[in-house]
Amino acid sequence: MPSINPQKIVVFTGAGVSAESGLKTFRDNDGLWNNYRVEDVATPEAFARDPGLVLEFYNQRRAQARNAQPNAAHEAIARLEEKYEVVVITQNVDDLHERAGSTNVLHLHGLLTEARSTADPSLIYERGLADLNLGDLCEKGSQLRPNIVWFGEMVINIEPAAREFVDAGKVLVVGTSLQVYPAAGLLKKAHFHSEKYLVTLEVDYPPRHFKWMRGKAASVVPSLAKNWLQA
Ligand code: APR
Repeated sequence: MPSINPQKIVVFTGAGVSAESGLKTFRDNDGLWNNYRVEDVATPEAFARDPGLVLEFYNQRRAQARNAQPNAAHEAIARLEEKYEVVVITQNVDDLHERAGSTNVLHLHGLLTEARSTADPSLIYERGLADLNLGDLCEKGSQLRPNIVWFGEMVINIEPAAREFVDAGKVLVVGTSLQVYPAAGLLKKAHFHSEKYLVTLEVDYPPRHFKWMRGKAASVVPSLAKNWLQA
């Protein structure tokens, strides 16, 4: 059993951490998957079939992200860096953790602010939250696509993310339904003796050994962070 680092916190987040910033989640009542079919907007086949529809779906999410600000949960997570080594591992594609000041963020499902070449996946372009349209080409002349992990594609950073869990003294899970793998499987990498917390409104199967603090991220996370910073 590897040793545990009481000064290290892994924060694992999902769409719920950005809900109070006004960004839709996926599986809540008014979630994105209640208004779109995954097969139409979030698979490689969808992009091959109707790239315009897929690009429009992500342009709408970039427009929402442009109007969103980090909320008190993002800010509290960033503040934890004053006293702890914090690694944020997020399923989210928004950049609200970075904008709140978190300096060590691993994205498992990509980023709205990046696009990549359809001819050469190693060609990745930082484009901010500008729209991405048909005719926006990479330097090799091929269409750019969102640098987002679609269903059926390999999740990025999963190995480095798993390594971060192993010695973390605290694991804080915020705003995820834990229904999507391999991301949700990372929780099993937590050290047996680590402190484990889950902050979310609903969860079908609360993960074993996690203390479920049922509530809104922007309320629960700041009070938890305050206690940890004063400890
Ligand atoms: N505070 C805390 N938790 C919240 C809040 C809030 N204000 N609002 C919603 N939640 C919780 C919900 O209870 C739910 O458990 O956030 C979770 C959102 O779950 P999902 O919509 O399934 O989002 P997520 O878990 O991030 O989805 C994972 O699925 O479609 C893919 O790639 C997509 O990254 C996404 C992945």
